[in-house]
Amino acid sequence: MSTSEYNNRAEELKAFDETKAGVKGLVDSGLEKVPRIFLSASNELENSLPNPTKYKVPLIDLHGIKDDKNSRERIVEEIKNASETWGFFQVVNHGVGLNVLDEMIQGVIRFHEQDAEVRKQYYSRDRMKTVKYSSNFDLYTSKTANWRDTLTFIMASPEPVDPQELPPTCRDITLEYTKEVTGLGETLFQLLSEALGLKSDHLKQLQCDETCVLISNYYPPCPEPELTLGSSEHTDPAFLTILLQDQIGGLQVLYQDQWVDIQPIPGAFVINIANILQIVSNDRFKSVQHRVLANHVGPRVSVACFLNARGDTKPFGPIKELVSAETGPIYRDVTMLEYFNRFERQGQQVKSDMENFKL
Ligand code: OGA
Ligand code: NI
Repeated sequence: MSTSEYNNRAEELKAFDETKAGVKGLVDSGLEKVPRIFLSASNELENSLPNPTKYKVPLIDLHGIKDDKNSRERIVEEIKNASETWGFFQVVNHGVGLNVLDEMIQGVIRFHEQDAEVRKQYYSRDRMKTVKYSSNFDLYTSKTANWRDTLTFIMASPEPVDPQELPPTCRDITLEYTKEVTGLGETLFQLLSEALGLKSDHLKQLQCDETCVLISNYYPPCPEPELTLGSSEHTDPAFLTILLQDQIGGLQVLYQDQWVDIQPIPGAFVINIANILQIVSNDRFKSVQHRVLANHVGPRVSVACFLNARGDTKPFGPIKELVSAETGPIYRDVTMLEYFNRFERQGQQVKSDMENFKL
């Protein structure tokens, strides 16, 4: 790429950023072609089509989790298998009401579809802000921009968010949704601890669920979906992700070298092991690459809850009970501060950011 092209790209990124209206703003302006800053490299677009394979992401029914010992044993076994192989599973009968899920999706739509002038007031790239709206958090560091806009709430870190800071379009439902989804997170961390052969409260004791960051993604319809992606392939910067997706589809996970569609199931959550849980589990659980296709149809909406530790300076490394004498620890200790500083510099389009912490 020549220097002048590079300069143009930088200018185009800046011009897009300064609209503060996101990809939604571009679509509203009636454009028929995907602007150059969003064009993905051809290797990224390889096989970027829906792929209904014979493989299916495990679906786990949490019914009976609290009061039926046999069900719990079965569920722990299923979670163990899914976390060791796919790094992903879907859950139903998780106890969060359908109305809460629907209303959360509606709240996200209300935010992104409100008057652009109001939406713009939230536009920011300041990582410390509790409430911010932007398009492509890694706009200036990634190779290509993704066809999506994002509203981010840091719901607890270290103090709970002040409700008055949340946008009125989705304030009440965000508070209710956060309460429900963090409750489910607590249950999942118990099950995951048991699946690792540890005491139920082991992961909780590590404080790995003390921060909840809600990432509400809005993927506008795309005029040329074969040229760009909704989200480039990545793994998640957290311990665990609880994802709510609407019924449109487009999310894919890499399984046995194939991109497999994660079919939307009404009322289900998609759960995935994120990077720090892979580290503390000493590679027993896998944080797996996933991506989102762009689509003529839209908008598609999803809400990812990243559960994480706070304690910026507390070191995390492989849990000693999970380190065998033969292999030893695979990772060195890492603090959240170091992890996120590195993440900030590199952006999300990194093959595997765990490599940085391998011994
Ligand atoms: C993410 C993510 C998937 C989706 O936000 O990290 O992978 O379906 N989202 O939006
Ligand atoms: Ni993700």
